[in-house]
Amino acid sequence: MITGALDKWQLALNNAVNYELQQLSLSTGRVLAKPTHVGIIPTMRCNFRCQQCDIWRSDERPSELTTAQWKKVLLDLRQWLGAYRVAISGGEPLLRPDIVELLEFCRDNRIYASIVTNGWLVNHERAAKLIAARPLNINLSLDGGTPETHDTLRGIPGAFERATGAAHLLNEQRKAQGVTTGIFIKTTIMRQNVRELETVLDWVDREQLSGLILQPIQENLGGEQYNRKWFEDNPLWPDYATVCAVLDNLVERKRGGSRLTQDEVYFRDMKEYFKDPSAQRLGPCQVGVRNLGITSDGKIEFCYHVMPSFGNVVETHARELWSGDRAREARRRIKACDKMCMATCYAKAGLKQKLEMLKALSR
Ligand SMILES: C[S@@+](CC[C@H](N)C(=O)[O-])C[C@H]1O[C@@H](n2cnc3c(N)ncnc32)[C@H](O)[C@@H]1O
Ligand code: SF4
Ligand code: SF4
Repeated sequence: MITGALDKWQLALNNAVNYELQQLSLSTGRVLAKPTHVGIIPTMRCNFRCQQCDIWRSDERPSELTTAQWKKVLLDLRQWLGAYRVAISGGEPLLRPDIVELLEFCRDNRIYASIVTNGWLVNHERAAKLIAARPLNINLSLDGGTPETHDTLRGIPGAFERATGAAHLLNEQRKAQGVTTGIFIKTTIMRQNVRELETVLDWVDREQLSGLILQPIQENLGGEQYNRKWFEDNPLWPDYATVCAVLDNLVERKRGGSRLTQDEVYFRDMKEYFKDPSAQRLGPCQVGVRNLGITSDGKIEFCYHVMPSFGNVVETHARELWSGDRAREARRRIKACDKMCMATCYAKAGLKQKLEMLKALSR
């Protein structure tokens, strides 16, 4: 119990110190910090066909690390970073039969995991096991307030019922088991669902879930070549006036106590982004001093768009790769990137966010 509490404080302290060192790394060009945003993709396989995502469209079938290999990678990182957070994504991570085992491994080694899923594979038994593994958060993707919108955007009939059902089951289990795991809904804002965001929020409030996380649609996740005008003629890109009106309403709702997770600055930045996503970003991108992404086959990357990979953690320890020549080359390319993207690179580790993190960790 005491070790657990101490570990959470170590995590908060690690992050606070590293955030400052990361800023220093950016201004001096030297690697002074360790990564604070670790993400792993245990599988690129997926059972969905979402319109906004090109992962399922890819012909590439990258291999996957075994359970033992993932455990070693996670533990190596624990020894290097101390207490750390890891975001588990995909593909659809629940397609891995060992996903609960990996979450339990994180729990037992005091690695703070969060996971994002489409929810299709969550039944009563799996919900109980996922919650018993005590991840920090489980995020369920929900791209609409109605079955018609969500199922159409996600390409699978019945997807809405399963995603909302999964959130309900997980929330029930969270209460029954008395654990602090956050159950969040994650919605990608697109033309087809922008007018339903308030319906999604109504439901999140009613179900008393932990919160709604919004993500503006961005250029396809797997695209290697950045096309600055990718949003033009894109059928998923929302109308600016509509999206602004909805976001303004949501900010009002947040002020009134609705369960929106992100702060008002984020809403202001989303409006800027929707005005013109081809505008040049202001300030340096932080991924090269902050993020560490590991793909299903063990490749390590900062940002897929800039340089796909700079090594493999199965062959070389992540610590060596982080400060090696290829990472330096990737950082040079990141420095030259002026793209305004609001996913991997979006970083506003302001005082408020740090305090919110402390609050989340002390739950
Ligand atoms: C790639 S999915 C992987 C996890 C899981 N399969 C799921 O859908 O939750 C992670 C998140 O990325 C979001 N996403 C996919 N394509 C996107 C895009 N082009 N722009 C913004 N978010 C996107 C999805 O909606 C989902 O919430
Ligand atoms: S967003 Fe998630 S569920 Fe949808 S296709 Fe991509 S990886 Fe699969
Ligand atoms: S701004 Fe950063 S995260 Fe975004 S594409 Fe450029 S290097 Fe990658």
